[in-house]
Amino acid sequence: MSGQMKEQGVSEQGSESIELTGKVAIVTGSGQGLGLAYAKALAQAGAKVVVNDVDGAAAERAVKAITEAGGTAVAVVAPVGPTSTADLLVQTAVEEFGRLDVLVANAGVIRDRVLWKMEDADFDVVVATHLRGTFTTVRAAATRLREQGEGGRIVVVGSPAGQHGNFGQTSYAAAKAGVVAMARTWSLELARAQVTVNVVIPTAITAMTATIPVYREVAEAYERGETLPRVVRQEHALGGPEDVAPLVVWLASDRSADVTGQAIGVGGDKLSLYSYSEELAVTYREGGWSAEAIAEAWPTAFAPSAQTSGITLPPLDAGVPAQ
Ligand SMILES: NC(=O)c1ccc[n+]([C@@H]2O[C@H](COP(=O)([O-])OP(=O)(O)OC[C@H]3O[C@@H](n4cnc5c(N)ncnc54)[C@H](O)[C@@H]3O)[C@@H](O)[C@H]2O)c1
Repeated sequence: MSGQMKEQGVSEQGSESIELTGKVAIVTGSGQGLGLAYAKALAQAGAKVVVNDVDGAAAERAVKAITEAGGTAVAVVAPVGPTSTADLLVQTAVEEFGRLDVLVANAGVIRDRVLWKMEDADFDVVVATHLRGTFTTVRAAATRLREQGEGGRIVVVGSPAGQHGNFGQTSYAAAKAGVVAMARTWSLELARAQVTVNVVIPTAITAMTATIPVYREVAEAYERGETLPRVVRQEHALGGPEDVAPLVVWLASDRSADVTGQAIGVGGDKLSLYSYSEELAVTYREGGWSAEAIAEAWPTAFAPSAQTSGITLPPLDAGVPAQ
């Protein structure tokens, strides 16, 4: 695929196929899981890819898989977080492939503990990888994209935990909510440079989700190649990483040029668009609010709109009505 022009094809649905030939993408944390699926799908669509991971063997395997499938990729083995890694990733894209068009800031770790058992080091590594790693890599990519002056695409990665909160995920929920807040800000700051910034909120069976006890059986069924039940693929939005990758390909392409600042959920059969901190109820009181006036207003003006925290899902054995 490398160096060749792919023909503009027409898909089964009759719409023009999405083409990334000539584009160069960096995908952090792409040695396995979702990042690997993104790197493979971007390469399959014609992009040259800088693979990154802390796990050197996984990164090399990813490059081998992409190259053997006819794509083009190189690996950078380094942890995201430090500015030096972000600079090395952009430098590698430019030195190896001549330019940069797309960054997918995907690398991540979890260190789940309930608040009173969470240690400083666990909190710090999660924030350093997701929040700082996204900040430093996007800053380096944005700097290059502004210099090039031809626009670009930034895709960052949130989580349902960041959107709703999740038991045991203090550091992860905070970091992922922060990623969305940064992306909304960058979509404003980079609009003039025609660089779009969007958030993918994925759900997929990977090493990360396979550790969640309730999903162990589903993960085993997926590994055996079994068809997953509709409640899993639809309401739990759980399938494989390959179900998430098409959203990243579209966001990396010219076809999404007018989409920026969005948080888009995808997984299994489900695609969704998230709101962001809308005011749910508003009341005014001339002269301002006393504590007593708030106590009086709350039950009628606000309580009916109050939202629950956490991710609410049906039991895995529940049926899903046909749509
Ligand atoms: N799997 C899901 O359902 C799900 C849901 C929401 C969000 N996410 C997010 O998607 C991303 C990918 O998750 P996954 O499920 O594929 O996880 P995974 O554990 O399978 O893969 C993560 C990859 O990132 C690498 N990595 C970890 N720290 C790194 C660092 N500092 N620098 C570079 N690479 C690093 C790991 O070695 C691994 O290859 C993460 O940001 C995760 O938080 C996943």
